[in-house]
Amino acid sequence: MSYSYQIQSLEQYKEAYKQSIEQPEAFWASIAEHFAWRKKWDKVLNWNFKEPKVEWFKGAKLNVTENCIDRHLATDGEKPALIWEPNNPEERVRIVTYNRLHKRVCQVAQMLKNNGVKKGDRVCIYMGMVPELAYAILGCARIGAIHSVIFGGFSAQSIADRLEDAKAEFIITCDGAYRGEKIIPLKSVIDDALIGNKTVKRVIVYTRTRIPVSMIKGRDIWWEDEMEHAEQQIEKNGKIHFEAEEMDAEDPLFILYTSGSTGKPKGVVHTCAGYMIFTNYTFVNVFNYQQGQIYFCTADIGWVTGHSYIVYGPLSAGATSLMFEGIPTYPDAGRFWDIVDKHKVNILYTAPTAIRSLMGFGTKPLEGKNLSSLKVLGSVGEPINEEAWHWYNENIGKKKCPIVDTWWQTETAGILISNLAGITPSKPSWATLPMPGVQPVLVDENGKEVIPTNNETIAGNLCMKAPWPGIIRTTYGDHERCRTNYFATYEELYFSGDGALKDAEGNYRITGRVDDVLNVSGHRIGTAEVENAINMHTDVVESAVVGYPHNIKGQGIYAYVILGKHNADDELTKKHILETVSKIIGAIAKPDKIQFVRGLPKTRSGKIMRRILRKIAEGELENLGDTSALLDPSVVDEIKNNRL
Ligand code: PRX
Repeated sequence: MSYSYQIQSLEQYKEAYKQSIEQPEAFWASIAEHFAWRKKWDKVLNWNFKEPKVEWFKGAKLNVTENCIDRHLATDGEKPALIWEPNNPEERVRIVTYNRLHKRVCQVAQMLKNNGVKKGDRVCIYMGMVPELAYAILGCARIGAIHSVIFGGFSAQSIADRLEDAKAEFIITCDGAYRGEKIIPLKSVIDDALIGNKTVKRVIVYTRTRIPVSMIKGRDIWWEDEMEHAEQQIEKNGKIHFEAEEMDAEDPLFILYTSGSTGKPKGVVHTCAGYMIFTNYTFVNVFNYQQGQIYFCTADIGWVTGHSYIVYGPLSAGATSLMFEGIPTYPDAGRFWDIVDKHKVNILYTAPTAIRSLMGFGTKPLEGKNLSSLKVLGSVGEPINEEAWHWYNENIGKKKCPIVDTWWQTETAGILISNLAGITPSKPSWATLPMPGVQPVLVDENGKEVIPTNNETIAGNLCMKAPWPGIIRTTYGDHERCRTNYFATYEELYFSGDGALKDAEGNYRITGRVDDVLNVSGHRIGTAEVENAINMHTDVVESAVVGYPHNIKGQGIYAYVILGKHNADDELTKKHILETVSKIIGAIAKPDKIQFVRGLPKTRSGKIMRRILRKIAEGELENLGDTSALLDPSVVDEIKNNRL
């Protein structure tokens, strides 16, 4: 049995989908034939969701970087793998061919080896969006070290927690990172994160901004020196060589921390073969990628979108991936459109929050920009509202580019539900149909499948019935946490934490999280995490955090805070609280609104009734539902009256 790897028509999608469900092992084995293996698998899939245990391509041996780089060299060595557009448009663009990428990744691998990094060791990467970040990731993968990339906006405390959880011994960072007009002092944040740390032995520092940094003898070393030394070691007779580590299909490839409904972020673990195959297959099919096209994903590699759809998916497909260091509004709100025009970008993949923010500048920043190279547009990270969808379609795609609305999560590795560009129909604000191999199901609170009685649209909690190759394998160091978070809510199902609608044609529309997780500007933040951070402030007794609709961010953060002591200046106290949250988590978690309250609506058993707080934050002051179970119903009126 053989399937066409790249789906060309709606009929082919239907056929591939049917086969992938009826014979998943044969389907994925056929897709896996398109990759380079040191040894083929013994068994395509073993799984049960009880433990959970999921193994794809067990027994197979490979190295992901041989698939992302080496196998393209003979035919496409001089093709650009990465195009790097710097923060400052005046600075030189860097074009990294597959040959050059190969050399750099071999150098990084050698550098890591020289510093004692071995297969299975955890390497924390805290860098800005420079090509060296991609080299660092792939260098780890080449020697089998497990990378844990931390987004450059996280605080020292967040890094410290992640370093400890992963027991990381190595860090790769930059002196600083450019972000619009700002310089983020990354190395200095790392220094703070390392106070009291007992595991980290080496910090490799890449020079980007030339801001002064401290360098501790015996611990901190310069990337440039190490890379130069490594270069001499890997060059033999004019050829570049660094033997890639042979990995088992199920060896971990990376850890990526993400927020959940509890206070502590989880280290989501993805493994080599399944992750590679799934990101590659979804990249090629969702964007309908054609060889030679220029593909631009605006995400940061600190998030899963950057891992899967800047680095691993595109490079394993031999694509040209454009990497951008800056922000959409610097030096002006035409930055994305300049980049599209300058590099003749064919595929643009961005987030609704970016679209909404750029919409606010009107169409002036688009004037004089030639966007005619664009063929496909994509959206990721949160539900795209119809207004943003139409603006994107009309002003950017000029009504001739399909928009793919891609639903997925850190835990899923790649896209699970999306239309396929130009192949399956789009429907504004609907993610539409599942990818081949993906079996969604909507369930009610008791885990019972919601079945339509007529041709009506149904609603429920979005689960998956069976594993796809990119499914989360474990949460680092705590498998039970993985089970309780994703596989225990409903028996025999993976639970996404999202609610969804399904129409009579089988299209899905994601309605948002049904747990205590917020999605702020496409970034996942747990309410408990923000509450913990607010509660660290000396004057705070208790807090409750909820989301509310925000025009640009999608969701804003609304905090209700009980103070133990009121200072003369409430506004200053608010600023102190914001600063505290920035220090504990990072600026991305700062509440948009802080309301000081006398009490929180609690039941007699002490449970906060968040439903009421959510409604008040949303401005829905009537119909708060039954408040008779509250210990002190009068606090509700007070909160309502002082609403911000
Ligand atoms: O709520 C969903 C939302 O983002 C969550 C996953 O966040 P994260 O793991 O950080 O990954 C973001 C990049 C994939 C989901 O649980 N989400 C993501 N994509 C969409 C979405 N909501 C609606 N529509 C989407 N296309």
